[in-house]
Amino acid sequence: MTQRALPASIPVDSGRICAELQELAAFTGGEPPGVTRVVFTHADRDARQWLAAKCREAGLETREDGVGNFFARWVGSDARLPAVGTGSHTDAIPNSGIYDGTVGVLGGLEAIRALRESGFVPKRSIELLMFTSEEPTRFGIGCLGSRLLSGRACIESVDRLRDGDGGSARDAARAAGFDGDLESVRIAPDHYGHFVELHIEQGPLLEREGIPIGIVTAIAAPASLRVAFAGEGGHAGTVLMPDRRDALTAAAELALEVERAGRESESPDTVATTGVFRPFPGAVNSIPSRCELEIDVRDTSEGSRDGAVARIVSAARRIADARSVAVEIETVNSDPPAVCDPTVVAAIRGAVAAEGLSAREMVSRAYHDSLFMATLTRTAMIFIPCRGGISHRPEEYASPGDIRAGVAVLARTLAALSSSQAGE
Ligand code: GLV
Ligand code: MN
Ligand code: MN
Repeated sequence: MTQRALPASIPVDSGRICAELQELAAFTGGEPPGVTRVVFTHADRDARQWLAAKCREAGLETREDGVGNFFARWVGSDARLPAVGTGSHTDAIPNSGIYDGTVGVLGGLEAIRALRESGFVPKRSIELLMFTSEEPTRFGIGCLGSRLLSGRACIESVDRLRDGDGGSARDAARAAGFDGDLESVRIAPDHYGHFVELHIEQGPLLEREGIPIGIVTAIAAPASLRVAFAGEGGHAGTVLMPDRRDALTAAAELALEVERAGRESESPDTVATTGVFRPFPGAVNSIPSRCELEIDVRDTSEGSRDGAVARIVSAARRIADARSVAVEIETVNSDPPAVCDPTVVAAIRGAVAAEGLSAREMVSRAYHDSLFMATLTRTAMIFIPCRGGISHRPEEYASPGDIRAGVAVLARTLAALSSSQAGE
C-alpha cells in the first residue's frame, strides 16, 4: 500500500471540523455545556438530519438502515471491491462531552473532504458510518447498531430490549423514522474490506507521554449485568428493624462487592462499576421495596472479566439469601475482546510515518463500534489524546491540533486501504 498519490500535506481543515463539533453539540436534550443525545430522542434525530445534510453537501451518497445506522459513500473507481469503512457514533450519554464518537464521525467526513480536495481518487469506495446507539443509556446495551450490522445480536434479544418507560427498541426506531426492520440490518460479510475508527483516547496515556497518536491493537472485553432486589416496602417509622426486608440495603451491599471484585481481581486491568442504582418507591419515609442496579465489568482478558462477573453473581445470591429478599440477575451482554487487524494497523503506521508523527500502540479500555466491526471485517482504531484523559463529562476536550493530526492519519489510512488490491 502506498502513500505516493497523496500530497505532502493533507488539507485537513481543523477550523471547519472544530466548528462542526460545536454545531453538533448544540443538539442536546440537556443543559449546555454538557451534551445529552440519547438515541431516538429529538436531539438525536435533529443531529442525524444535520449530519446527513453535511454529507450530501460533501457529495456523498447517503442511506439509513432499519435501526438508523447511517452510511455516506464516496463511490470508488472500482466500486465492486469491498469498501473501506470509517466512522463512529454521535449519541451521547447524559451530561457528556462533545468529542466522544463525534470526532470519528466528523473526522471521517473531514478526512474524505480533505482527500477529495487533494485530488485523490479512491479505488475502493470509502464509506462513512454513524452507528445507532453506541451508548447503552436508553436500552441498556451498547453498540446496538454495530451489533446488528455485524450479526452479533440476535433479533429476539433486541426485540426484548425496553427503555425506562417500557417502550421497545423497535418501536422507538419506528417512531424516529426508521422502519424497524432489524432482519435487514445485518450487512453482507464482503460489504467492507476494512474498517478504521478515529476516537479520543478517553484515558490519560497519550497526553501524559506527549504522543499525538495511539494505534489500537486490541479492545477490552465488556460485560454488563442488570440486578433487581425485591424485598418488602413499608412505613419507615412503624416497621421495626428486625422485621425489615429492605431492597436498597441489599443492593448497597452488592455495589460494594462490585467494587471489591474490581479491586481484588488478580488482573490489574479489571474494572467494575455500578453505574445505575434505582430504589423504589424513592420516598424518604418509605422502606425501599425494590432496587435495581446496572453493573459494568471489563478487562482485556475475557477470563479475568468472567471471574469478576461470577464473583458478583454469587455475591448477589448470597446477599439475597442472607437478607430474605428476592433477586433477579440478567446478563445484558458479555462480549469477547477484539484483536485489531495487522493490515489495518500497518496502514495506520504508514500514515503516521508519512505525517512525520510519533505513535504508540495501545489497548482500548473503552468499547467502541469497532469491537463489533472487528467480527465482520479487518478493523483497527486511531486514538488522539484528550485533556486529562477525561471523558463522559462536559470537561472532555481534544485540541484542534490533535484533531487535525488524527484526521490526517485517518485520511492517509483510508487512502492506503482504498488503493489496496482485492484480497489485500
Ligand atoms: C463506551 O462509551 C464505553 O462505555 O466504553
Ligand atoms: Mn462513550
Ligand atoms: Mn465513543
